[in-house]
Amino acid sequence: MTMAKDNDKREVVLRLSDITMQFGGVVAVDNLNLDVHKNEIVGLIGPNGAGKTTAFNCITGVYEPTNGAVEINGKVVIENYPQGKMKDAYKGRNQGKYTKALTMLPDKVTKLGVARTFQNIRLFKGMTVLENVLVAMHMNQGESVFGATFRSKKAREEEKAMREEALELLKKVDLYENRDDMSTSLPYGKQRHLEIARALATHPSILLLDEPAAGMNPQESDDLMRFIGRIRDEFDLSILMIEHHMQVIMGICEHIYVLNYGGQIADGTAEEIQANPAVIEAYLGGDE
Ligand SMILES: Nc1ncnc2c1ncn2[C@@H]1O[C@H](COP(=O)(O)OP(=O)(O)OP(=O)(O)O)[C@@H](O)[C@H]1O
Ligand SMILES: [Mg+2]
Repeated sequence: MTMAKDNDKREVVLRLSDITMQFGGVVAVDNLNLDVHKNEIVGLIGPNGAGKTTAFNCITGVYEPTNGAVEINGKVVIENYPQGKMKDAYKGRNQGKYTKALTMLPDKVTKLGVARTFQNIRLFKGMTVLENVLVAMHMNQGESVFGATFRSKKAREEEKAMREEALELLKKVDLYENRDDMSTSLPYGKQRHLEIARALATHPSILLLDEPAAGMNPQESDDLMRFIGRIRDEFDLSILMIEHHMQVIMGICEHIYVLNYGGQIADGTAEEIQANPAVIEAYLGGDE
């Protein structure tokens, strides 16, 4: 850990401790230790296949990590250790350090205030921009998405309030003008905004972004960078983002973690990372 990190007095809102994810014989994430402080923007980078998305999947309950723990807002909510066949097959470190098997399904993780976007845009294609946000709100409330048949007066009022909230949200993310457009008709950059808006619809305090600038040109990724900074302030978020566009990572992240072949090879500020020989080697020696 670097000085900058140790001196950060802000509370830790997300902590990964020794997270290891093994698929059969493949150790996709190998002993990842990572902190996100309140209102911090943290980067997670590394060559293709380094284990970045897998780390997100361990945080969000998509995968049960093979070993290690995930803390959200100071509480361990996910923990695991190699059991059954994995006891012998385990190739990671820190076996025996963790003794609990705590799991959490993705919707529960969302309810704890963690929202994410996906590497490949996952919008609802047959719906408008506004409908995409409304569906995200409904899903978070645990309601049936299309269960609009038997509506009490109270339900209708809630629906109206939700609609107003969704429109407010769209204003804040520069999509209000597009509210009635089909989501797929939006330019690519705006589809990425909409993905983020949908994540924001669940009222997160922690936002995980998986390659938000994927496929963007330099101008679009520049806009996105400012956009991410703005929503951090406006929505009081702490952000962990995976990104290959170094201009975005270096421009916005206060702290950066680097993975290579599942292992954590460095962490530090943008300057520290750019000057780190192991990082330079990982990128120049890989297919980047
Ligand atoms: N469900 C799975 N089963 C088996 N192997 C998997 C699974 N998910 C990921 N992997 C493997 O784990 C490794 C890490 O993959 P991951 O998708 O996390 O990489 P990444 O860093 O997100 O890469 P990229 O930058 O290309 O998105 C890869 O070798 C991948 O094949
Ligand atoms: Mg990925």
